[in-house]
Amino acid sequence: MTEYEKTIERAADAVRAKINALPEAALILGSGLGDAASRVEDAVRIPYRDVPGMPLPSVSGHGGQIIIGRLCGRTVAVLDGRVHYYEGYSQREVAFPVRVTSRLGVKTLIITNAAGGINTSFKPGTLMLISDHINMSGGNPLIGENLDSFGPRFPDMSAVYTPELRARLKEAAKEEGIELAEGVYVMYSGPNYETPAEIRFFRTIGGDAVGMSTVPEAIAAAHCGMRVVGISCITNMAAGTSDRRLSHAEVLESAAMVSEKLGRLVEIAIRRL
Ligand code: HPA
Repeated sequence: MTEYEKTIERAADAVRAKINALPEAALILGSGLGDAASRVEDAVRIPYRDVPGMPLPSVSGHGGQIIIGRLCGRTVAVLDGRVHYYEGYSQREVAFPVRVTSRLGVKTLIITNAAGGINTSFKPGTLMLISDHINMSGGNPLIGENLDSFGPRFPDMSAVYTPELRARLKEAAKEEGIELAEGVYVMYSGPNYETPAEIRFFRTIGGDAVGMSTVPEAIAAAHCGMRVVGISCITNMAAGTSDRRLSHAEVLESAAMVSEKLGRLVEIAIRRL
């Protein structure tokens, strides 16, 4: 076992010591999308700083705690607050919390994020189910010594976002009257927003939404055989797509507006795992 795998084990042990039931699913909440976290019942809240090896978030809108409790009849682990590649963490560090949940027995990862709309049929407030991603970040969480106890050196990425779960979620969203688009998420490193030329390029290569997260966690989850559901909340149209200038304040404001709807969708996802 590598030193890194031992660090993951120690973190999982620290969490396990504080909880009564092991989580089946993990949930990562994006910028300003913390609504679901407040609905977890019988919650044990473990600050990231109490979990050895856990990278600590610095961006506003992120709490920095693992919440383990009941949501929609299942035991879930909410990763409330995440670190980003642009903060200077390696993608391996960004993926650390996902690997800890894997060691706790989590089989399904639900990831939400705030993203810019590349697809011109989207508008702020659109929810987009991620069908696939394009990694334009320049990093990869699997770089370095392979963690053989998690997965193979050269893992397949043909179906990162589990097709069966996507189909179920689309059907459920329709039944509940929640409009749900579907598309390809492009990860850009940030921290600056993209240029209009970059966005035109991302559109040309098949991107529908762009953001600065999710891909490291999704790759690490796919590597260790977890099922993944990704939902992007389109908080703004991407650079050059509208005349508006981009700001983090606008992202948080739009995220707050759809947070409740996204929370309902996440609950549906958990119920139909
Ligand atoms: N670009 C990158 N990341 C983002 C955006 C964007 O336009 N909006 C929210 N996160």
